[in-house]
Amino acid sequence: MKKSGSARDPLWYKDAVIYEIHVKAFFDANNDGIGDFPGLLQKLDYLEALGVTCLWLLPFFPSPLRDDGYDISDYLSIHPSYGTMEDFKTFLNAAHGRGMQVMVELVVNHTSDQHPWFQAARTAAPGSKERDFYVWSDTDRKYEGARIIFTDTEKSNWTWDPIAKAYYWHRFFSHQPDLNYDNPAVLEEVLKIMRYWLDMGVDGLRLDAIPYLVEREGTNCENLPDTHVVLKNIRAAMDENYEGRMILAEANQWPSDVRPYFGDGDECHLAFHFPLMPRMFMALRLEDRQPIVDIMRHTPEIPENCQWGLFLRNHDELTLEMVNEEERDYMYLAYSSDPRMRINVGIRRRLAPLMENNSRRIELLNSLLLSFPGTPIIYYGDEIGMGDNIHLGDRNGVRTPMQWSGDRNAGFSRAAPEMLYSPVISDPVYGYGAVNVESQDGEASSPLNWMRNMVALRKLFRVFGRGVMEFLDPGNRKILAYLRRGEGETVLCVANLSRFAQPVELNLQAYQGMRPVEMLGYVEFPVIGSQPYSLSLGPYGFFWFELQKAREQIEAQ
Ligand code: NOJ
Ligand code: CA
Repeated sequence: MKKSGSARDPLWYKDAVIYEIHVKAFFDANNDGIGDFPGLLQKLDYLEALGVTCLWLLPFFPSPLRDDGYDISDYLSIHPSYGTMEDFKTFLNAAHGRGMQVMVELVVNHTSDQHPWFQAARTAAPGSKERDFYVWSDTDRKYEGARIIFTDTEKSNWTWDPIAKAYYWHRFFSHQPDLNYDNPAVLEEVLKIMRYWLDMGVDGLRLDAIPYLVEREGTNCENLPDTHVVLKNIRAAMDENYEGRMILAEANQWPSDVRPYFGDGDECHLAFHFPLMPRMFMALRLEDRQPIVDIMRHTPEIPENCQWGLFLRNHDELTLEMVNEEERDYMYLAYSSDPRMRINVGIRRRLAPLMENNSRRIELLNSLLLSFPGTPIIYYGDEIGMGDNIHLGDRNGVRTPMQWSGDRNAGFSRAAPEMLYSPVISDPVYGYGAVNVESQDGEASSPLNWMRNMVALRKLFRVFGRGVMEFLDPGNRKILAYLRRGEGETVLCVANLSRFAQPVELNLQAYQGMRPVEMLGYVEFPVIGSQPYSLSLGPYGFFWFELQKAREQIEAQ
């Protein structure tokens, strides 16, 4: 018999609201300065009240932590700083008990160089099974068509290993050797790891960095057919023994290249929509809907059982790999005035500072996140408007402790401040004195309560997760207007991307006789007539309307 996940509906991921968390950053229960599973367990009330339905945990496995845990040295244990396996299981069961799903990371492209597989490979004879867990070469001139991803730190995708006396291949940091999928033993091991976590009951797996699994001479070594063969094998192994689980693809690629990661509904269930993300920021800054409409028009249809994963910010930089050069220059200019805000091909900042702490702009972008076709993913701390610290190295500036209160260490830990894994944000605008859960909790109009309301509202309308999207084309390009249709519901969303008030006339002919009811306040607007439907929106304002049958229509029936 197949082992079920914790959700009843096999398509649960379509209606989910995902919340991305660093265990280390959330809450420190044993006061050693590092967040842990017992701490996360204590904060389930908070997460339940926020309304999120699926918790995505960043890597929590043993690791030298040179890539914040994406450099794994043991896939089957818990990093001792975060607790024990028992702590993890207790947390998992408690999350399930509250009807929340849990997604963990399956880092399949590379390991840490400290992983026993790599240690064995370096000393094993060339050509042996152990050696062949990784990709070796006598020269560093192979696969020259592959770009470098971590442009700020790496000069080559090859690094010389003095013990093996050969070069090994790595698409990310040089301490992260890539696994060799031409060796069938590698996939076998990965499947064992997958089964281990699925047997324990996790509901979802985020497959990290999947475009790079296989390398072939004469190509750019991304999205290759053999990579898809590996992924289909992973999915088949999942489907064989497990039900109600989900795989989320991390493939930072153009929509047409991401499309194959869904296969015929037999590869990944979800994939991040990377190209959409920067275009939401661009449209807002340009006060023009075109970048959004354009990328959505170039977004192919996906199989019925699949879904886009939508996000504004995450634990990485705001990546600008999926825009053209001109757009990249514009984004750097618009959103990274200080060069220290930049890293690799992107911008290392959180949502609130990117929006210059303008609550209307933050709310507008969140309204798009929560109403576009796909599953929204909220990055921890963005719901209270946390800031970042560009003086911390790498992407650590967006990974600081969650701000629970105005107490010492932001209420995150009772350790001495010097012991914290990272300093808390303490500047006057975004610091924990000004921005924290405790003070926002009781304040009806706080960012936190705004987010709670919006998440709750989204969950009331299945059309958001399941319906189709149709853009309207009003003359005023500062207005983005779209319909979401399906599940017996029709929702009209209208967003003003401008900093000034804007009028708009919408062609709603097809809905003549229906009444738009504004969903946040349940306010009835005038019935749609034969003329264009006029609306005025305040600066960065947005409306969500449910189109309902007007009373007159119901009475006539
Ligand atoms: C993608 C992860 O999101 C990122 O944080 C990490 O650095 C790379 N994979 C490499 O592991
Ligand atoms: Ca701790």
